[in-house]
Amino acid sequence: MNGDIRSFQGIEPMIGEHVYIDQSAVIVGDVSLGDNCSVWPLVSARGDVNFIRIGARSNIQDNCVLHVSRKSSRNPEGHPLVIGEDVTVGHHVMLHGCTIGARVLIGMSAVIMDGAIVENDVIIGAGSLVPPGKVLRSGYLYVGSPVKEQRPLNDEELAFLPESAANYVMLKDEYALNVHSV
Ligand SMILES: CC(C)(COP(=O)(O)OP(=O)(O)OC[C@H]1O[C@@H](n2cnc3c(N)ncnc32)[C@H](O)[C@@H]1OP(=O)(O)O)[C@@H](O)C(=O)NCCC(=O)NCCS
Repeated sequence: MNGDIRSFQGIEPMIGEHVYIDQSAVIVGDVSLGDNCSVWPLVSARGDVNFIRIGARSNIQDNCVLHVSRKSSRNPEGHPLVIGEDVTVGHHVMLHGCTIGARVLIGMSAVIMDGAIVENDVIIGAGSLVPPGKVLRSGYLYVGSPVKEQRPLNDEELAFLPESAANYVMLKDEYALNVHSV
């Protein structure tokens, strides 16, 4: 239920209320998970050379890799990883030192690099690559490698974004019950 939660240099991950973490996931160091988040099999989230923050009700699906960049003289803050609330991070996504707004859906196998900013209410297609420092603006679909703005999201897609997160909140509750009943 609680995955492999490890401290690094005396800093323990901070886990909110009703968070589900698969037992094969590894969470290290300065990582915080908001209430009702879920972290699925084989995720690695390593908050060692900077911090990772994950907002409430967000889901990090199977095989994702979450990491950060260290502070340096050229870049005094380095690149932490900040994920907003109600975000869906699809299977096998790589998030490195970037900022993700609220109600974003990141398609399977996407890669988002240091300093990129994804504003609220965005969909990123499966297999996309978001280069360092790129800003994806609110309300649009982005696809490709490197990503290009494809079109505005329609009302149905905008409504789906929080629904997708809510579906994962329900699913993790089912998993939590299942684990308790074994
Ligand atoms: C991006 C996505 C939302 C497209 O939805 P869509 O409604 O089919 O998009 P559109 O019909 O507007 O297609 C736009 C164009 O992008 C192309 N396209 C669709 N998905 C693409 C992708 N992932 N990468 C590159 N191009 C893509 C389409 O072929 C189309 O090309 P065309 O204009 O030359 O015909 C969908 O394909 C996707 O990748 N969803 C992610 C699902 C996911 O990974 N969920 C998380 C795990 S549960």
